[in-house]
Amino acid sequence: MDGNGRWAYRRHLPRVAGHRRGAEIVREMVQRCVDAQIAHLTLFAFSTENWRRPPLEVRLLMNLFRLMLRREAKKLHDNGVRLRIIGDQSHLAADLQTLIRDAESLTAGNRRLTLNLAVNYGGRWDIARASKRAAAKCLQAGRSLDALSEEDIAAELCLADSPEPDLLIRTGGEERISNFLVWQLAYTEFYFTETLWPDFDGNALDLALKSFAQRQRRFGRTGDQVQEDACASD
Ligand code: IPE
Ligand code: MG
Repeated sequence: MDGNGRWAYRRHLPRVAGHRRGAEIVREMVQRCVDAQIAHLTLFAFSTENWRRPPLEVRLLMNLFRLMLRREAKKLHDNGVRLRIIGDQSHLAADLQTLIRDAESLTAGNRRLTLNLAVNYGGRWDIARASKRAAAKCLQAGRSLDALSEEDIAAELCLADSPEPDLLIRTGGEERISNFLVWQLAYTEFYFTETLWPDFDGNALDLALKSFAQRQRRFGRTGDQVQEDACASD
């Protein structure tokens, strides 16, 4: 979700106005994903690198996050949304950690849409943590580390119980991953748009989904093989 600052700048507003508007877009996009029967949505709200921003902006972002959790948890629950926060929570304020725990347990049984919010998340942090956990389990089970497999590591990642993302959308014109779901994006389709996150609307989402629908996903195979398979399953 990139472009909040530039959106505000163009309107001669403080950056926080862009973040506020961005939070409203989050609410709208969650609803649209529910309506479109999308089962998993992961939003990159705050990266492990975002602590480098001016302290005031970091504080405002954390306050906005607090406000959203307080205001939206009940509404998400009523809408059948399961909320999960992924990332290193140990560096978040204690009251924020409590709000997260409460919102997660309130919505834990919902399955209509799983909404993962990445806060203080980094893809490399996720892989390093998963590797340590997988190695510890391996040693505990008396296995050699030589036997450690990709599956062992994948099973310890934050989103181990979710499917890998089909589509990544990055707004705001930048074309990079910025340490998002580094492991999980191996076969994801990428969609980049100049649209700033606060301007991202239903139409912009439809364009992204349309672009995704036109792609042929080969997963290493040839186009002919994919076509043959599609014919066989018809
Ligand atoms: C939102 O956009 C990203 C975060 C909430 C951290 P930016 O704040 O990065 O907006 P730009 O890139 O300055 O426009
Ligand atoms: Mg940015």
